[in-house]
Amino acid sequence: MPLIAPSLLTANFLKLEEECRMLNQSEANWFHLDVMDGRFVPNISFGMSIIKQIRKATTKVCDVHLMILEPENYAEEFKAAGADNLTVHYEACPHLHRNIQQIKSLGMKAGVALNPHTPVALLKDVLADVDLVCLMSVNPGFGGQAFIPQTLQRIRELRGMIDAAGLEVKIEIDGGVTLGNAAAIVAAGADVLVAGNTVFASDNPTATIAQLKRV
Ligand code: DX5
Ligand code: ZN
Repeated sequence: MPLIAPSLLTANFLKLEEECRMLNQSEANWFHLDVMDGRFVPNISFGMSIIKQIRKATTKVCDVHLMILEPENYAEEFKAAGADNLTVHYEACPHLHRNIQQIKSLGMKAGVALNPHTPVALLKDVLADVDLVCLMSVNPGFGGQAFIPQTLQRIRELRGMIDAAGLEVKIEIDGGVTLGNAAAIVAAGADVLVAGNTVFASDNPTATIAQLKRV
């Protein structure tokens, strides 16, 4: 069964406590928290203060996805805010190996996210150092976009690299995950499904999370 990581980007921020309670009571495994800086991606979302509040409202894993430039300047603050997993973008990190070491030395799990155009093969020499690879299945910046079909082939390729090296790295798929495509994504080799719109625009988010788990 895949791990389910609802993205709170699409949650109702006026009712954040209720949204957290709903996720706590659901079969969701991780809270996926999307941080955008308006520079790496053409949108601005939320930062430390919101993450601190969410941290108080859950004991589940806080999976923080940084869509920001120079993430090394903020890693300590995200740790203090309550991040368990910290994911940085390959395209934002000229010194990616150093970023990964920094995140791990702060006691967090280290993730690397790839935009849809970045070849998965580029991760070969850091794969053993990371806990998580987040394959973007949309161009990052916005919730509610359509899944890019080539992602399935990228998942299979990455799964092959991880298995061939005998590693435990998790593959997370982020963007456009629906009840219609989740089975194919899991069959291709994904471990974690991020879902924003599919969960929060649903009439029954709790049931939708349970369905995503069982595709
Ligand atoms: C996109 C974010 C995603 C987004 C997913 O930049 O990284 O986590 O919230 O939203 P959906 O599931 O609606 O595509
Ligand atoms: Zn995300």
